[in-house]
Amino acid sequence: MNVVKVNRKEGFESFHSDEAYKTLRTNLEFAGEDNRAIASTSGSPREGKSAVSYNLAVSLAQTGKRVLFVDADMRRSRFLGQVETDVPIKGLSYYLSGQAALSDVLVHTDTPHLYAIFAGPVPPNPAELLGSKHFTKLLEEAKKAYDYVIIDTPPLGSVIDAAIVAQAAGSVAIVVEEGTTSYKFVRVVKDQLEKADCNILGVILNKAEQKKGKYYNSYYGGYYNSYNNDYK
Ligand SMILES: Nc1ncnc2c1ncn2[C@@H]1O[C@H](COP(=O)(O)OP(=O)(O)O)[C@@H](O)[C@H]1O
Ligand SMILES: [Mg+2]
Repeated sequence: MNVVKVNRKEGFESFHSDEAYKTLRTNLEFAGEDNRAIASTSGSPREGKSAVSYNLAVSLAQTGKRVLFVDADMRRSRFLGQVETDVPIKGLSYYLSGQAALSDVLVHTDTPHLYAIFAGPVPPNPAELLGSKHFTKLLEEAKKAYDYVIIDTPPLGSVIDAAIVAQAAGSVAIVVEEGTTSYKFVRVVKDQLEKADCNILGVILNKAEQKKGKYYNSYYGGYYNSYNNDYK
C-alpha cells in the first residue's frame, strides 16, 4: 500500500485545538456502534468541513482506532496539492467509475492507523458516482474493516452530493462557521439532511476563536463569494 504524507501546513495544524477535537472524539465514541461512518458537511464552502473532518480523523487515529478518511468532495478537493506521494494516486473518482481497484486508491497516511481515499480527478458526474452501488458497497466494507469512516463532502447549499453521502454513511455532522451562517440557512441544511433519512449527530461550530482577529471579515468576505461560484 502506498504511504502518503498529508501536508497540513496551510492552516490545518495552526488552529488544531486538541481539547476541542478530544471532546468531539469523545462525543462520537458515545454515539455508539451505528454511528461509525460519518459524513461532514456545511451549507457553504470554506466553513471548515475539510479541516475539521481531517483533524477529527487524525484525532480518532491517535487513540489507536483504525480510521478511514474518504475525500468525497470530488468537485473541489481540499487535498489536491496537499498530499505528497511518490506514486500518483488515482482516487475515489477512479474507483467509483470502475477504472481502478480499491488497492490502487487506498493509501496509508503519515499518521499511524489513519488510511485515506483521496478524491482523484474531477469526474463529470460526482453525484451519480456517489449515488452508485459502488459507493454504498465501499462504505459497507469500510465499516467492517475500520473503527471509523470519516467522509468529507461538498457544501450542501451548492450541490446535493452531501445528502447522498450522508444517506449512504448513515450519520452526518454539520460544520457551521461561527457568525457567518444564519440560523435559517442551518435549518435548511438540516431539513435537507432529514429528508436523506440519516442520523444528524450535531453541529460543529468552527472558527470561533479566529473571529476575534480584526482582519477576519475583510479577508474572508471576498474569497468566500468567489469560491462559492465554483460549485455552480
Ligand atoms: N478553525 C479554523 N481556524 C482558522 N482557519 C480555519 C479553521 N477551519 C478552517 N480554516 C481555514 O478556512 C479555509 C476553509 O477551510 P476548508 O476546510 O477548506 O473548508 P470547506 O471544506 O468547508 O470548504 C481553509 O483555508 C482552512 O485552512
Ligand atoms: Mg472542503
